[in-house]
Amino acid sequence: MAHAVELPGANSVLAGHPLLSFHMGAYTWTLETHDGQSVYKVTDGASTISMPIHWSFGAQAQTWVFEQDGKFYESIVSFYPSANGLGVTTGDERLTPQTLQEAMGRELTTMDTKLCFGCHASNAVTSHKLTLNTIHPGVSCAHCHEGALDHAEDAAAGDFSTTPPRLQDMTSESLSNFCGQCHRSWETVVRNGWRGLPDVRFQPYRLANSRCFNGTDPRISCIACHDPHKDLIRNDASYDSKCLACHAASARPTSTAKAKTCPTATSNCVSCHMPKVTLPGGYLHFTDHQIRIVKAGESFPN
Ligand code: HEC
Ligand code: HEC
Ligand code: HEC
Ligand code: HEC
Ligand code: HEC
Ligand code: HEC
Repeated sequence: MAHAVELPGANSVLAGHPLLSFHMGAYTWTLETHDGQSVYKVTDGASTISMPIHWSFGAQAQTWVFEQDGKFYESIVSFYPSANGLGVTTGDERLTPQTLQEAMGRELTTMDTKLCFGCHASNAVTSHKLTLNTIHPGVSCAHCHEGALDHAEDAAAGDFSTTPPRLQDMTSESLSNFCGQCHRSWETVVRNGWRGLPDVRFQPYRLANSRCFNGTDPRISCIACHDPHKDLIRNDASYDSKCLACHAASARPTSTAKAKTCPTATSNCVSCHMPKVTLPGGYLHFTDHQIRIVKAGESFPN
């Protein structure tokens, strides 16, 4: 998470791909990187708009945010490792740019801009205002250790500058809400009426819908499976002990139920019960945290 926003000069993805290009409809986009400086260009053959990249969002897949005349724009194309190149920004598949300006980027509202920087960077929003002169790229220590749950309301209003709980003392429910400030909480998803496949990326919401979830049992909290100080572990077997903490025959029951054992297998639990789901656009996949028996041919449960 320390790389959720990068400033110029620190972008190893672009440094490793000094010339990128993408063509769609009447437009061609190129991204050139020399000496730590990247320039994003879009042309319709007759005219060209050229923007230096200041803010790169995403550690692996990347989208760029530009400022022009006091307005902020999100790039219409992004870099996707799965394509090893550029593609239409996930969520923008249905946009058909009518002008060169629209092809450059989607204009962000002031609120969207604050939310973008609030989740992906630190010290970028202070007292509800965008303060990009004090930005620290990425989710810093202080962002989690000082900005917090009691202030989730400020966060929802785009202010990420306020204060601390003792993280290790939180229940699994509170941790879901804490991580959910950025990964989206159950309440956020329900209140906004977000439905369908894209919800798979909101892990706190999916996990809460799982029969395994119990708001007071630490064995199913976000930090039972993830150490926010380390890289994500991408090895199915390493999660077995987490499941078996409840699903072994000898495990202590939860406050509401005794978890059963699996009649099918004894290892690699997540490979069957937490499937990977590909988002529309095809570039990104997420792990379904709605732990369940997955039936062949079922539609996405939501
Ligand atoms: C201030 C916002 C914020 C909070 C709070 C937050 N995250 Fe994140 N997290 C992010 C962002 C942004 C990314 C995406 C980084 C990227 O790929 O650009 C991320 C990525 C991740 C990843 C994937 C990392 C990888 O290597 O692919 C995991 C796992 C994760 N977060 C877990 C957690 C957990 C657990 C918590 C709660 C203890 C938490 N996060 C709280 C913003 C946050
Ligand atoms: C409420 C917090 C939040 C807001 C607002 C937000 N992001 Fe993110 N973003 C995340 C988290 C968390 C992830 C990590 C996805 C995951 O692993 O679940 C992420 C992932 C990404 C990624 C990596 C690719 C992907 O889609 O997963 C990009 C690029 C990105 N965000 C760009 C943006 C931009 C640009 C904006 C503003 C228009 C924005 N984000 C607004 C929290 C946020
Ligand atoms: C995404 C949120 C997040 C980020 C970023 C983060 N932490 Fe934590 N940290 C937690 C959570 C949640 C706990 C409690 C669970 C645990 O002990 O792992 C914690 C626990 C700790 C603890 C143990 C004491 C305590 O408060 O529980 C220390 C020390 C710590 N973090 C230091 C750091 C440092 C130093 C950084 C920056 C390099 C950092 N953390 C970044 C979420 C985060
Ligand atoms: C029972 C274990 C378990 C729990 C609890 C859990 N996760 Fe995960 N999580 C996983 C597994 C397994 C993966 C996929 C790892 C891989 O890519 O191989 C994952 C992946 C992720 C990712 C990377 C993006 C994705 O969806 O693939 C994020 C972000 C994340 N988890 C956040 C969270 C948050 C936030 C919570 C708490 C609401 C949470 N997780 C609770 C097991 C768990
Ligand atoms: C906090 C304890 C706990 C943890 C940790 C946990 N579960 Fe569960 N799980 C339960 C309980 C309780 C039920 C409901 C009773 C049952 O079906 O066993 C359940 C139900 C299930 C079911 C049946 C769901 C259905 O739709 O009928 C599956 C499959 C499952 N868990 C798999 C897993 C896997 C895989 C993991 C690890 C990624 C895991 N669980 C982690 C407690 C837990
Ligand atoms: C190869 C895929 C696969 C793997 C790996 C796997 N399971 Fe299952 N699991 C299933 C299937 C299929 C069912 C449904 C079986 C049935 O209904 O007859 C199931 C059922 C379950 C149930 C519900 C049992 C009940 O009586 O309702 C639980 C709980 C469960 N698995 C947990 C786990 C755990 C924990 C692990 C890892 C130790 C695991 N599973 C590994 C495929 C798998």
